[in-house]
Amino acid sequence: MRFGLVLNIVVAGTAAAAPAMAADGAPTFTRDVAPIFYKSCIECHRATMFAPMSLTSYEDARPWLRSIKRRIMERTMPPWGSDMPHGVLRNDPRLTDQEIQTIVSWIDGGAPKGDIADMPKMPAFADGWTIGKPDGVYSMTEDYKIPASGTIEYLYLRIPVNLPEDRWYTAVEIKPSARAHVHHVIAYTEPHSDAPTRPGSTFGPTNITGVSPNKPGLVFEPGVAKLLRTGHDIILQMHYTTNGTEAVDRTQVGFIFAKEPPKQIHITGLAAQPRFVIPAGDPNAEVKAVAEIKQDTIMTSLTPHMHVRGKDMTYTAYTRTARRNCSCACRSTTSTGRSPTTWPSRNACRKEPRSRS
Ligand code: HEC
Repeated sequence: MRFGLVLNIVVAGTAAAAPAMAADGAPTFTRDVAPIFYKSCIECHRATMFAPMSLTSYEDARPWLRSIKRRIMERTMPPWGSDMPHGVLRNDPRLTDQEIQTIVSWIDGGAPKGDIADMPKMPAFADGWTIGKPDGVYSMTEDYKIPASGTIEYLYLRIPVNLPEDRWYTAVEIKPSARAHVHHVIAYTEPHSDAPTRPGSTFGPTNITGVSPNKPGLVFEPGVAKLLRTGHDIILQMHYTTNGTEAVDRTQVGFIFAKEPPKQIHITGLAAQPRFVIPAGDPNAEVKAVAEIKQDTIMTSLTPHMHVRGKDMTYTAYTRTARRNCSCACRSTTSTGRSPTTWPSRNACRKEPRSRS
């Protein structure tokens, strides 16, 4: 949760590691390349996951050499969308120059397999819960049959929870059973109701968490928890996709409950600008959204989200004083108490901020 902690973890990537090539010659798969694949690729590139091929063994990787070389040299694998001009992110998966160099010289050197005794141990992947054994598991009340083809509109599925009292939770995970057919799930809560479930507000304070391919469960730092309210149901916004085979899904949400009240509360916030028009032909239209954070807050994660026309996104944090003087910031909007759906249009955002002194 604290940035000191975050830093610790990433520095390893740039440390001057011992040369990955042994002195006696070109890199081999078992000794030099497999450790990199195991660390950086096989969370997605293994038989049960969604990437197009497995990279867990020499035989699996061998047919893909040209493609592997290209994708790691252009740095499009592992996938990562952030250039992070400031600071570091804990989950930055990028390969170091050294690692890229090792894989490229292995391929250029004829991709030798090496001694099987050098093969690293296969990491243990939880096919169950990544957060550990949950105290509470809430499942979809019925199976959902996913056809082999066609488009499936978003579904909103209600899971009654019936908690006798409010509970703080320290970890949560959404676990689809047909992962390869799930584009995403977003879970949030709503007061219990027997009426048909309609689309609700997926983000904001009632948000629980989301899952997309490869996203493990969420475990908060010690002392941090989030609230699951009595009298509320869980709503799943399900985006299933067809992929040529039929499947049956029954997604579960698992919680680990806090043993004691939290010292810090985890919440999900939102800065969205849903009302904008891209002028025809504009190659670089800009859209802004502002959220005011009223309490002392540690920001622990960011989820930029745009659809196909989106090119890039920048987050800027302003202190109250800096924002008052900054012509690029949007006029103070959320401080008026207006809800996100009435945030100003793009043009309003372009005006100079009004002096609020
Ligand atoms: C977060 C999941 C994820 C990780 C981690 C990941 N990949 Fe991928 N990879 C994918 C997906 C999804 C695709 C298919 C879409 C695409 O081609 O971009 C893919 C495609 C590829 C392809 C293209 C295959 C083809 O069709 O030619 C190569 C090569 C590749 N990955 C290599 C790697 C290597 C090497 C690593 C580790 C250094 C890695 N990937 C890490 C998810 C991942």
